[in-house]
Amino acid sequence: MAEKTATLSIHQGDNTSLEIDLPVYQGSLGPDVVDVGKLTAQGHFTFDPGFTSTASCESQITYIDGEKGVLLHRGYPIEQLAEHSDYLETCYLLLNGELPSAEQKEAFVDMVTNHTMVHEQIRTFFNGFRRDAHPMAIMCGVVGALSAFYHDSTDISDPHHREVAAFRLIAKMPTIAAMSYKFSIGQPFMYPRNDLDYSANFLHMMFGNPCEPSVISPTIARAMDRIFLLHADHEQNASTSTVRLAGSSQANPFACIAAGIAALWGPSHGGANEAVVKMLDEIGDVSRIDEFVARAKDKNDPFRLMGFGHRVYKNFDPRAKVMKQAADEVLAELGIQDENLEIAKRLEEIALSDEYFIEKKLYPNVDFYSGIILKALGIPTSMFTVIFAVGRTVGWVAHWNEMISGSYRIGRPRQLYTGYQSRDYLSVEQR
Ligand code: SDX
Repeated sequence: MAEKTATLSIHQGDNTSLEIDLPVYQGSLGPDVVDVGKLTAQGHFTFDPGFTSTASCESQITYIDGEKGVLLHRGYPIEQLAEHSDYLETCYLLLNGELPSAEQKEAFVDMVTNHTMVHEQIRTFFNGFRRDAHPMAIMCGVVGALSAFYHDSTDISDPHHREVAAFRLIAKMPTIAAMSYKFSIGQPFMYPRNDLDYSANFLHMMFGNPCEPSVISPTIARAMDRIFLLHADHEQNASTSTVRLAGSSQANPFACIAAGIAALWGPSHGGANEAVVKMLDEIGDVSRIDEFVARAKDKNDPFRLMGFGHRVYKNFDPRAKVMKQAADEVLAELGIQDENLEIAKRLEEIALSDEYFIEKKLYPNVDFYSGIILKALGIPTSMFTVIFAVGRTVGWVAHWNEMISGSYRIGRPRQLYTGYQSRDYLSVEQR
């Protein structure tokens, strides 16, 4: 990394000042970073709650330019991957850094296909949940438990173990996701089918039943695959940062991904897609949009427009653009009229012409339109964030592997302490 220097001058209260020279590193794209590692030795910490200005690591996987609405996976624009690639090819790219040759892709797809089944014992895990358990709660529990079955791929220092764990996670997430859905509706689990591609297989496990052959629409399978692809990775978002932090303690990969699933669940993050559809249902009619936009602008009202805003994108989320176009195509091809799509489009128009959203640079994000497509594909709302988790698994695994295969230290942030200074214990009589 090319190195420049920043000088931090700290003017103390007693007219003295402390000058600290800090190295500045330049990446291949994006802002330079100031290495503040030696500040501690000088008696200072940086302070950046929410990590708005903090680069937590060096990475070569995904680049986002929030001002320009750019998203690159290993240098390839998301728009091009969404149009020309498919989910497993994008998985290969994220994990290995290059697009696969035909032979490499065939071998990768075969490996994933042959890891889609889960241990039969895992089926009994589901019986411990209530039928109305949220599928994300089931995913957190069952994925975390995978490490109890795969001791043969948890030596994180062994590249082969890491590769096997990666294949197992990418391959089994759709199976466990579909099982969580089947469990919730009281239908039997469907075994994966090796004659189907990744997304068609997921739809088979979701909507198939043992009484008749599955009929999978290529349109729906292609749309499902594109949704997984659009959710594959997104730099150091909250859930990926969670996976990296868990991995930095050398926890096994299955536990790290379970931690990522838990972080994704929140409505500020991956849970937003479920919240968007609930919001659109609550709006119910374009005539009520102004009422909800006013609530979103009201400081005294905790309501936010779900699916709007982003920590990094201060322009359009390029995934939202692709998702919006896909929503039009899928609903048209399936002949579905969804009032929520019209409400979403009108809401976007109104919000994007409103001074509040313009000034705060709030645009639709990946979650704003995804739920409309998922609903058209027959996916129940409670499964929307699970779908996000399935797609994002490859990103979590790619970042985990990038960290573990390089040099890393346990993540251990510090704090600005504003609590009591040292004080003596008081007996109960003295309190
Ligand atoms: C994802 O990080 C990633 O890359 C995430 C993700 C990925 O692929 O991994 O892209 C996926 O999580 C997308 C985001 C999904 N979440 C939502 O759609 C929930 C609604 N949006 C927000 O709550 C919010 O925009 C966040 C959480 C997404 C971003 O929060 P920030 O960066 O901390 O911004 P903020 O909360 O400080 O908001 C800045 C201002 C505030 O107003 P002021 O206090 O400055 O007056 O904008 C306002 C906020 O009140 N604001 C909103 C708003 N989002 C921000 N006002 C109304 N509606 C909104 N949606």
